[in-house]
Amino acid sequence: MGKLTICDHPLIQHKLTFIRDKDTKTKDFRELVDEVATMMAYEITRDLPLETVTVSTPVIEATSKVVSGRMLGLIPILRAGLGMVEGMLKLIPSAKVGHIGLFRNPETLEPVEYYVNLPSDAPERLLIVIDPMLATGGSANAAIQALKTRGCTQIKLMCLIAAPEGVKAVQEAHPDVDIFLASLDSHLNDHGYIVPGLGDAGDRMFGTK
Ligand code: PRP
Ligand code: URA
Repeated sequence: MGKLTICDHPLIQHKLTFIRDKDTKTKDFRELVDEVATMMAYEITRDLPLETVTVSTPVIEATSKVVSGRMLGLIPILRAGLGMVEGMLKLIPSAKVGHIGLFRNPETLEPVEYYVNLPSDAPERLLIVIDPMLATGGSANAAIQALKTRGCTQIKLMCLIAAPEGVKAVQEAHPDVDIFLASLDSHLNDHGYIVPGLGDAGDRMFGTK
């Protein structure tokens, strides 16, 4: 079973409150999501392997650590996942970025795939699927499956807010995928929205409603 990590740093939890607030305007919503994505990138890269190198300080030649060439890929699920990419790239600027376009059919809640564009060396990279919302888990599962179908094997999932239903769905379908969240919320409502959640992430991010 994939590991579930809640990134409970006080600054993440503080900013998440304002992301949830319905009165937060699009500009501030975007900035806050960007900031939280940077902080979560710190957490999700915690287990990157290190190697020892030699460095000449102004004082002496010393041994020190660098990340040992682990190649990363960020895979935002369109649309709302886009809002977390820049924040993560601030910490991991050499990551490549692939895109998976999915939307949820509002009646069936089933994901509909409309776009997949991955780095050519995606199968050699550790891929982080990014989406603010993990509700039924249909979109995340479809995105992870799209990566696996193309030969990718090292995959993590990073979301701001999840419902227990979505976590369970991903853990059952993809037990090899670790999940990182800022919050595990209460439940899904009858329309498949996370409660308390933040509403429609894409609309709030891009001001489309
Ligand atoms: C939202 C969200 C996730 C999905 C989560 O996207 O960004 O991708 O719903 O729901 P699920 O876990 O039940 O699949 P949406 O379908 O609204 O598309 P959009 O980002 O283009 O608005
Ligand atoms: N998608 C969203 O944007 N919000 C939810 O609460 C559920 C799915």
